[in-house]
Amino acid sequence: MSNYHIFIFFNLLITIIHVSGQDPPYIGHFCGNRANFTRNSTYFSNLKSLLSTLSSPNASYATGFQSATIGNGSDTVTGLFLCRGDIIPEICSDNALYAVDDALSHCPDQKEATIWYNPCTLRYSDRNILSTLATSPGVLLTNTNNVTAELRERLSDVLNSTMNDAAKMAVNSSRKFGLKKADFTPSKRFYGMVQCTPDLTSDECNVCLRRAIDGLPREQVGGRNLLPSCNVRYELYPFYSELLAPPPPPQVSDTGSGVTPFAKPQSRSYRSSSSLIIAIVLPIVVALVFFVAVQYYFLKRRKINYEASASDDGSLQFDFKTIEVATNRFSDSNRLGQGGFGDVYEGMLPNGTEVAVKRLSKSSEQGVDEFKNEATLVAKLQHRNLVRLLGFCVEGEEKILVYEFVPNKSLDYFLFDSTKRSELSWKTRHKIIGGIARGVLYLHQDSRLTIIHRDLKASNILLDADMNPKIADFGMARIFGMDQTQSNTSRIVGTL
Ligand SMILES: *[C@@H]1O[C@H](CO)[C@@H](O)[C@H](O)[C@H]1NC(C)=O
Ligand SMILES: *[C@@H]1O[C@H](CO)[C@@H](O)[C@H](O)[C@H]1NC(C)=O
Ligand SMILES: *[C@@H]1O[C@H](CO)[C@@H](O)[C@H](O)[C@H]1NC(C)=O
Ligand SMILES: *[C@@H]1O[C@H](CO)[C@@H](O)[C@H](O)[C@H]1NC(C)=O
Ligand SMILES: *[C@@H]1O[C@H](CO)[C@@H](O)[C@H](O)[C@H]1NC(C)=O
Ligand SMILES: *[C@@H]1O[C@H](CO)[C@@H](O)[C@H](O)[C@H]1NC(C)=O
Ligand SMILES: *[C@@H]1O[C@H](CO)[C@@H](O)[C@H](O)[C@H]1NC(C)=O
Repeated sequence: MSNYHIFIFFNLLITIIHVSGQDPPYIGHFCGNRANFTRNSTYFSNLKSLLSTLSSPNASYATGFQSATIGNGSDTVTGLFLCRGDIIPEICSDNALYAVDDALSHCPDQKEATIWYNPCTLRYSDRNILSTLATSPGVLLTNTNNVTAELRERLSDVLNSTMNDAAKMAVNSSRKFGLKKADFTPSKRFYGMVQCTPDLTSDECNVCLRRAIDGLPREQVGGRNLLPSCNVRYELYPFYSELLAPPPPPQVSDTGSGVTPFAKPQSRSYRSSSSLIIAIVLPIVVALVFFVAVQYYFLKRRKINYEASASDDGSLQFDFKTIEVATNRFSDSNRLGQGGFGDVYEGMLPNGTEVAVKRLSKSSEQGVDEFKNEATLVAKLQHRNLVRLLGFCVEGEEKILVYEFVPNKSLDYFLFDSTKRSELSWKTRHKIIGGIARGVLYLHQDSRLTIIHRDLKASNILLDADMNPKIADFGMARIFGMDQTQSNTSRIVGTL
């Protein structure tokens, strides 16, 4: 069974689980009993507007953190919403919508509440909770499976050093988020994640993480400690984003020295009959557990449903293997066409999301870091009249962009075909023109980046199922590291 089939199988399995009904990703809550409100009070209406602010569609989830204060005097309500650091903004905003809907069912009349969900934390209070350290109450979750007696000491060792490393990484980072993995046994790795609300100072974050890490279990294969101001988690499987990653390298390793989260696994191999079996069975089990976990977190979402490789810059990186599987190894039958910057392929991600994959021609001299950064910035641009960039992949010579799939071909297909042209009513044309204008206005003025397209033409206008126009290939100049605001106007970009 190829990886692809395994994933299809797991998705089927998960769909079945889903259909049979699953609890929401709620973990626990704490309602302060210090003060209550009534439904007709100003506090309640302030709370409602706070919750809608925290989940507002125009809120930026770029950092995974939102906070707000509404009202004045004794009716003031302050709240915050924090997504797990490895969750991409789109999914984070879906979680916010879910959480604010769900919140009042747990604390129907208390003025203060902390509610923990699998992918996020929501807090509000009549007191000022922003920039304020809170290390209790908390929820401690322990995996019921113990490690064997002879591995206990090793676990305690690896846990202390790896979680401390992750904490060091987090306290001085702007998002107060850290990931770290380390070898645990020849066949298993230890994965750690720590996170504070980013409104804390480094010192406060450090205090919170120390307490949370000290509180973790040290005899079980996994644990989470969720406090109001921070949370920590470890598992012996990749519970964050190792989509289609090779199995944990079965290597003989001596120390538990930390490996950076997304470093390429080394391929030094180590074989004995039992480790061979582990090498076969473990990836399947790990993939199953991982997919159940991921799907479980994001069950209710219809939009994109993948977990991007997370790193401290919140990057949206795809693994080259994922892309290869998705596009059937860039097969000709998947090729949609050729654009100015490279070939475009249709593909399907392991979770069933249809994507368009652009394999960039190797004409850019831009460095990998700049490419990643620019692609990440462009991916943050979101407008209904822009084709959404879901992520990218860079590996060796390959530079690949992954876009949402837009079903109705491009505008030129309609305009330059006499029969198709008659399908375009004036109303539709008006809609298309208006949409393009809005998209361009957003690029030029309203986005943070001020992007000039420089290659706007009918074949770069894609049409969705409702014939809404979506501008494609915007930001290519940026992604290719060309200066697009001035000077080189004589340089030809893209196709003419
Ligand atoms: C608030 O309501 C809860 C029950 O919903 C009750 O247990 C608590 O004592 C109340 N607190 C105050 C201050 O009235
Ligand atoms: C809200 O309703 C309660 C009865 O349910 C009433 O006692 C109270 O005075 C009302 N408060 C306001 C501000 O209208
Ligand atoms: C969202 O946009 C509305 C109006 O455009 C504005 O009033 C509101 O403050 C914005 N909310 C956020 C969180 O930016
Ligand atoms: C709170 O703000 C409202 C208007 O937004 C104002 O009418 C009221 O006097 C303010 N109350 C206090 C205690 O400042
Ligand atoms: C794990 O170990 C604890 C004692 O340390 C024991 O009480 C518990 O039953 C064990 N759990 C399993 C699943 O073996
Ligand atoms: C790990 O840290 C805990 C709590 O700080 C401590 O009790 C334990 O002795 C440490 N273990 C090792 C092996 O250093
Ligand atoms: C964090 O930064 C402060 C000062 O900027 C420095 O003193 C401290 O050692 C840093 N901590 C870590 C864990 O790197």
